[in-house]
Amino acid sequence: MNKETGRANTPSQEQAPAHSVTAEGGRTDCGTNAFTVKLSVNHIKVITLLVFIALGLLYVAGLVRAQSDRGGSRAGGTPTVSGFDSRIDGNAQQMLEQGRQIFRFETFGDEAYWSDKLKLHRAIEGAKLGGVGAGVSPKAALAVGLKVDMDALPADLVEKIKRGEVNLDDPATTLALIKLNAVLGVKGTFNADGSLKAVGLSCAVCHSTVDDAFMPGIGHRLDGWPNRDLNVGQVISLAPDTSALTQLLGVDEATLKKVLASWGPGKFDAELNLDGKAFRPDGKPAATLIPPAFGMAGVNNHTWTGGWGTVTYWNAYVANLELQGQGTFFDERFNDAKKYPIAAKAGFGNKRSGTDMATAKLAALQFYQLAIPPPTPPAGSFDGAAAARGEALFRGKATCAQCHVPPLFTEPGWNTHKPSDIGIDDFQANRSPDKTYRTAPLRGLFAHMKGGFYHDGRFATLLDVVNHYNSFKKLNLTEQEKNDLVEYLKSL
Ligand code: HEC
Ligand code: HEC
Repeated sequence: MNKETGRANTPSQEQAPAHSVTAEGGRTDCGTNAFTVKLSVNHIKVITLLVFIALGLLYVAGLVRAQSDRGGSRAGGTPTVSGFDSRIDGNAQQMLEQGRQIFRFETFGDEAYWSDKLKLHRAIEGAKLGGVGAGVSPKAALAVGLKVDMDALPADLVEKIKRGEVNLDDPATTLALIKLNAVLGVKGTFNADGSLKAVGLSCAVCHSTVDDAFMPGIGHRLDGWPNRDLNVGQVISLAPDTSALTQLLGVDEATLKKVLASWGPGKFDAELNLDGKAFRPDGKPAATLIPPAFGMAGVNNHTWTGGWGTVTYWNAYVANLELQGQGTFFDERFNDAKKYPIAAKAGFGNKRSGTDMATAKLAALQFYQLAIPPPTPPAGSFDGAAAARGEALFRGKATCAQCHVPPLFTEPGWNTHKPSDIGIDDFQANRSPDKTYRTAPLRGLFAHMKGGFYHDGRFATLLDVVNHYNSFKKLNLTEQEKNDLVEYLKSL
């Protein structure tokens, strides 16, 4: 009961000085009234001072009590919350659950794009089941990097797969898996006769993977871990009708296919739909790595480059302009026809679908994403003593912590840098509003060792990254020190 009162009263206790002065002050006045006339001005001063000290002590005592109440309810292990506090707790729980569902399964109505226009569902089905082409067998799906959630499979199916009784070469099996919601990020809608009516894509297709607990590509979900096996270009290439894309980009089919083939596993070009720049001046693909979507709480700028916005900005961007879901999106910067010719022409700066299937989901989606912590490196995956020495170097001689500020490992504030600050070219930076690179948060690096480091994976290993800083910033690190830094990075 005390605890409840203590917690519920917190807001008014913050205004305690004002309240208590009136209440207590009233009483004090009564008690002193008879004497005041006889008292000298000095006495009045002293008494007033004492009264104020007493009030101050009462206030502090109140705060201490409120604090210990809070601590008490935690330490007791039985949080008793009431009133608005319980609304907050309930809301948090609900947003978390809703957000998880959205992150995993929500397509924002993007079937209208992937199926009605690109007809991706027909390629998955294959001609035998009423679609086109060979169809996508589970083996083919796993080969392009799609992942299967073993927890969505009924126990008897798991047993059958173990005994080799499930045909992993048959697209019909893929349909069965999609029906079970087991293929990460691929959501199916089915006709009454069991054929595939449409597929849509969700965030999980790129931003989740599995732990391979059952077999490579099949395991427990790992939300937020980037799928560095997924060949997005190859998946889009499967679509029987890419005219929506070729028209948007103003290119022919052959050119589009060449672009899609250039990306490779773990990469996607999230700005191609804005500026149409498919290749860099050096001829290499403009695609970037799929970044981790964990450990984002506390981080200001998002994506590899600077100035787009917060997590929810980017979520709205992707839901509307990448997944091509149905919703509302506004960003006047996309009217800049010189920088973003494709977006300006397509009116991406002010998208208003007839039905908005995205906006109402943004709050819970962001809440869930911010709740995804960076994963902890497995025991034994790094050398502890070397990592401890590496930490000292990271904070000291190697100056890494100036930008990668622990424990966020990015700067609190406007966390971006000019390309010249980190000694790399400006191609990708210039595609962003800020013309900068975002200081990549470094927690959970071990979870995305595939595909390399920096936005385009230009550094194959962490040692390559350290070597780059060592020469660019003239750090004079010894081989031992470089190794220690690498072990520290692996421990984050
Ligand atoms: C086709 C693959 C793909 C899909 C699907 C996808 N993303 Fe991404 N996501 C990317 C890539 C690539 C980037 C990096 C973009 C860049 O830097 O230009 C990214 C970046 C992000 C970031 C920034 C992370 C950071 O490092 O700060 C967030 C947040 C994000 N995506 C959320 C989403 C959400 C929410 C969805 C679903 C609505 C989604 N993404 C769907 C590929 C994808
Ligand atoms: C001037 C600021 C700055 C300093 C100093 C700095 N970094 Fe970085 N770091 C960045 C930026 C910006 C990126 C993103 C580069 C990109 O996206 O291509 C980055 C990226 C990285 C990455 C790649 C992360 C990923 O997900 O691919 C690693 C690893 C890294 N830094 C480690 C270090 C180490 C180790 C040091 C010290 C030797 C260091 N950084 C010093 C700004 C800095």
